[in-house]
Amino acid sequence: MNLIDVKQMNKYWIQRIISKTYEMVNYREKPLKDKIMISYFCEPSTRTCASFQTAMIKLGGSVISLQGENSSNKKGESLEDSIKTLNYYGDVIVLRHPEKGSSERAVKVSNIPIINAGDGNGEHPTQALLDIFTIYDELRRRNINLYNDDRNEINITFMGDLKNSRTVHSLVKLLICFKKINITYLPHNNLNIPPDIYELVDSSGTKQEEINIPQEEQIKYIKYLMKTDILYMTRIQKERFFDNNNMNDLNQPFQITSSNIHFFKETAIIMHPLPRLEEISPLVDHNDRCVYFKQVENGVYVRMAILYEILLL
Ligand code: NCD
Repeated sequence: MNLIDVKQMNKYWIQRIISKTYEMVNYREKPLKDKIMISYFCEPSTRTCASFQTAMIKLGGSVISLQGENSSNKKGESLEDSIKTLNYYGDVIVLRHPEKGSSERAVKVSNIPIINAGDGNGEHPTQALLDIFTIYDELRRRNINLYNDDRNEINITFMGDLKNSRTVHSLVKLLICFKKINITYLPHNNLNIPPDIYELVDSSGTKQEEINIPQEEQIKYIKYLMKTDILYMTRIQKERFFDNNNMNDLNQPFQITSSNIHFFKETAIIMHPLPRLEEISPLVDHNDRCVYFKQVENGVYVRMAILYEILLL
């Protein structure tokens, strides 16, 4: 089984991953002791790369770690040739690559499973699973079951660079599996959610609303943040802007700080895939609403569940 995008997932499969993830928290067995994971990262990464490696090692497996810059990628080797080569060395390839669609290309030439760890501004399915797990777990702590269709509506707001954030693209596509989710987009600098995703959400029947707020009218963000149950914040992905003339327009127009965090509901959940830049002040990290370092922790258990599912079942 490959893990390329979230199209292949439904809410029952997600539930299986959630249950497996809880099982992994105190799991001490080493069922992957004969398996090798190749971590092939052609774009920078801290959390995804390290958490996949940690997950594999915790399950008893071994890891070969290859960075794009130190591989034949730098000499101009095609992705296809690199993947065919890596097939001789390992049992699974975790691939991060700057081009959208690169994981699908890899699958075409691979005999071993490919896990998409982020393909340009395309998708990031394992981050979406750890985000859904975090949402499920945090709602559970607030006595709300994400799977219960009789519950009250949940308002989730996506804010920041919604055009280029692959974590947002994958998570939005997963959220439409669940009833009673209302989505609000608050894009910065007109970095709107891609039209194909907007249309997909529309056709699913999930309620969505896009609000474009001019940079100078920051105060207007508060009105929307006050009513959100979950805020998913992202950084502006400057590395994905090929037209440097537009760089000056890419200021961060809104920051969560200790002086405005009290506007959020007391039960609100503030998420971020990290890395963060200026969009959330570190001074609010200890606020109960902020769960981005819990996302980091959950990432290890979710990736253990994914590796287990792919390599053993
Ligand atoms: C994100 C990514 O690489 O897409 N980080 C992550 O994997 N946790 C988000 C980002 O780079 O902004």
